Amino acid sequence: MNRIIKIAPSILSADFSRLGEEVEAAEEAGADFIHLDVMDGRFVPNITFGPALIKGIRGRSALPFDTHLMIESPERFVDDFGKAGADILTVQVEACPHLQRVLSQIRQAGMKSGVAVNPATPVDFLPYVLDVTDLVLVMTVNPGFGGQSFINGVAPKIARVREMIDRSGREILLEVDGGVNPETAGVVIGLGADLLVAGSAIFGTKNYRESIGKIRGAGAGSL
Ligand code: DX5
Ligand code: ZN
Repeated sequence: MNRIIKIAPSILSADFSRLGEEVEAAEEAGADFIHLDVMDGRFVPNITFGPALIKGIRGRSALPFDTHLMIESPERFVDDFGKAGADILTVQVEACPHLQRVLSQIRQAGMKSGVAVNPATPVDFLPYVLDVTDLVLVMTVNPGFGGQSFINGVAPKIARVREMIDRSGREILLEVDGGVNPETAGVVIGLGADLLVAGSAIFGTKNYRESIGKIRGAGAGSL
């Protein structure tokens, strides 16, 4: 397996009083993307930030902004996030009765389109939208908070999505988010993920470069 593993530190676990510096530090430490967790207090029981903050830190890094919307009716804000500087815009399938339309809308707004699935959500819908999807995000915690434990039971779904993507022959990123650390990273890499989100396992440590290196180099492990 010679898949290139990419790392997206989630600023949810960063020091919010110095967010600009934290984003710079993540890039300096070898991150590939910056992961931005947008929460509305309705789809998930937590509120974080929106386009204004993203616009505010956009100038601090040249890395792609991987923006994860955990909000109801995300179609209302697609243009706002595009203008703020998001490069990838990922919506939760559970919040999108018209998923195909939203994913197309994201591409039309000039961004890459992503769809996220919660731990208990099946992925049978995926073949119907793969032609308008650039990234599939498998959640390995129930979204809302950083620092939660990886849910082992979701593991087979990562392998299943890998298979679906490979079968489609399309270039679609497989991202995993939630409870990723140097131990669980080996498992998700082994199951076929190519983009790993990590919040607390990077921003909760002293040496970001070392932590990113440990996650990236975790090697294929198993449960
Ligand atoms: C969870 C968010 C994650 C979160 C991950 O709701 O979508 O991106 O920041 O945090 P860790 O890596 O600490 O589980
Ligand atoms: Zn996230």
